[in-house]
Amino acid sequence: MNNLSVNYMGLSLSSPLIAASSGLTSQIDKVVAFAKAGVGAIVVKSLFEEQIINEAEFISSRSADYPESADYLYHYLRSSSISKYLDLIKEIKAAVQVPVIASINCYSPGEWIAFAKEIENAGADGLELNFYSLPLNILKNSNDIEKQYLEVVGKVSKSLKIPVSVKIASTFTNIPGFVNGLKAYGAKSVVMFNRFYSPDIDIKKVRMIAANAFSYEEEYLTELRWIGIVSALVPGIDLSASTGIHNGTTVIKQILAGATTVQMCTSLYQKGAEAITHAIEDINLFMDAQGFENLSDFRGKLNYSNIENPQRFERVQFMKNFGEL
Ligand SMILES: Cc1cc2nc3c(=O)[nH]c(=O)nc-3n(C[C@H](O)[C@H](O)[C@H](O)COP(=O)(O)O)c2cc1C
Repeated sequence: MNNLSVNYMGLSLSSPLIAASSGLTSQIDKVVAFAKAGVGAIVVKSLFEEQIINEAEFISSRSADYPESADYLYHYLRSSSISKYLDLIKEIKAAVQVPVIASINCYSPGEWIAFAKEIENAGADGLELNFYSLPLNILKNSNDIEKQYLEVVGKVSKSLKIPVSVKIASTFTNIPGFVNGLKAYGAKSVVMFNRFYSPDIDIKKVRMIAANAFSYEEEYLTELRWIGIVSALVPGIDLSASTGIHNGTTVIKQILAGATTVQMCTSLYQKGAEAITHAIEDINLFMDAQGFENLSDFRGKLNYSNIENPQRFERVQFMKNFGEL
């Protein structure tokens, strides 16, 4: 029997597969099934500051004639949304043995720290900061936005005893540089990458619609490149691959590129806990065939530093004269 255990952001995981934050990880029966099937950890559905504020503002605005009661209602609803989330963490912790990582998405710097402290007190084993607000201010420069993110990570990491990871988008100008900054500010891991809700257009009805919420199998290639590069250039921080992890083959590829863990979401929606069982079977078959006993025997074996021809990671354009096509 192979050893699939791994140390991820200081937590002991029995396998590198993680149930990614989604609607599924706010349901106790689902979380229990994923743990039974062999996930190493659960990332709970994110607590969104925006959602709490909107909900509280909407309801309290209805009592606009009574400003004091509106204010009271606002604070009451806000704390009730947070306490519901804290109860969810406690329930999940009671239901499974695997580490439970909470997740928050905030936009005001003060709230990140307030939420984070409460989450730690509720018993979460780790905290994933789900970073993304869509920048729309054309006068704001990207350095300022990144600096704000780093400061949040620094403040949250300093105020907590549990480890902090950061889930990022693939759209930073200098991904290795930003990950290096996250490490310096105290992040123990980086989740690469989040996949966002996208708008699409229905040309028959000439209206906006939601694009497919689920990933396609080939979408793992973007993070494969960056995990391969970042694991070589920024040692000392764990990387968790996210987006397009649909089967064991993709898990193996991400570990070969340097990932410590992988996060699955779409495959859990589409195939349920079986996606986990099958991926674990495939990893074991691969390890048996290659003579690997531990994940560390092949983690990063094909990253940017360890391959003979690192240009394979660097080449981004198809060149007519020199390209492979
Ligand atoms: C229905 C749905 C809900 C999601 N909710 C969250 C969330 O609350 N927090 C978060 O960080 N990511 C959330 N995600 C993103 C997933 O965690 C994951 O990063 C993304 O779907 C890419 O992984 P996949 O290709 O396995 O789906 C959600 C995704 C889906 C499809």
